[in-house]
Amino acid sequence: MLVSAKEMLQKAKAGKYAVGQFNINNLEWTKAILLTAQELKSPVILGVSEGAGKYMTGYKTVVGMVKGMMEELKITVPVALHLDHGSYEGCMKCIEAGFSSIMFDGSHFPIDENVEKTTELVKICAEKGMSLEAEVGSIGGEEDGVIGKGECADPQECKKIADLGVTMLAAGIGNIHGKYPANWEGLSFETLQAVSELTGDMPLVLHGGTGIPEDQIKKAISLGVAKINVNTECQLSFAAATRKYIEEGKDLQGKGFDPRKLLAPGTEAIKATVKEKMELFGSIGKAE
Ligand code: 13P
Repeated sequence: MLVSAKEMLQKAKAGKYAVGQFNINNLEWTKAILLTAQELKSPVILGVSEGAGKYMTGYKTVVGMVKGMMEELKITVPVALHLDHGSYEGCMKCIEAGFSSIMFDGSHFPIDENVEKTTELVKICAEKGMSLEAEVGSIGGEEDGVIGKGECADPQECKKIADLGVTMLAAGIGNIHGKYPANWEGLSFETLQAVSELTGDMPLVLHGGTGIPEDQIKKAISLGVAKINVNTECQLSFAAATRKYIEEGKDLQGKGFDPRKLLAPGTEAIKATVKEKMELFGSIGKAE
């Protein structure tokens, strides 16, 4: 059964660890993440961007695949199925399709419009028992064609959105999606601290988890981050393992071209990345 992310994130915030959101693209991704979470007894959030939802032929397909897989694999750890960076329309579609969590990314709207739309979604999510993530201050980098500058959120605006009753809040603190450039200045802990002080118990979300140095991840968790999103890193490890398999000519040996064989090293590589992140975030054993 899919669950809202509320309880797992409140526990994480109180226990000073973070739950990973790992974005999915297909069956192999979903299987690798679910099996790793179950093996390590960790709660987990499966992230679906609007682009990935479209790629997987629509949100209903995603819900069917995830629910079916959880049943067949006997997954008992808490799993939330979450729309990543949703538009208002995307949120509505995911609510209807049976997601257990959504993110409304209103960061590109003027704050009043972000407040207005978030308020409506808070009401709907409360009725449905779903969790809702809001964003203030756009996260930089490129994700699914959406390009953000990587700003630092205004802590007062964060408080305004947090007070609407959202479940978790993503605040821009200089983080960006994808690989970090060599001249990246690092996370703004000053902003994070200020947001944390004003928003109290609110679980904070760190996007762009790929490539943030371990000490910065740990410091962010100590300052109130309870959810960390990782996407690119799984893509990179999947691609590297698949490249190695083909470069070694394994697809040309015997039945090495069988997709079940061809995609196996990449799937194992995703498992290893997810495990590494769960260790770093401190979520292992928290679902026991
Ligand atoms: P990365 O791709 O940088 O890991 O970011 C993931 C993310 O924040 C998804 O919303």
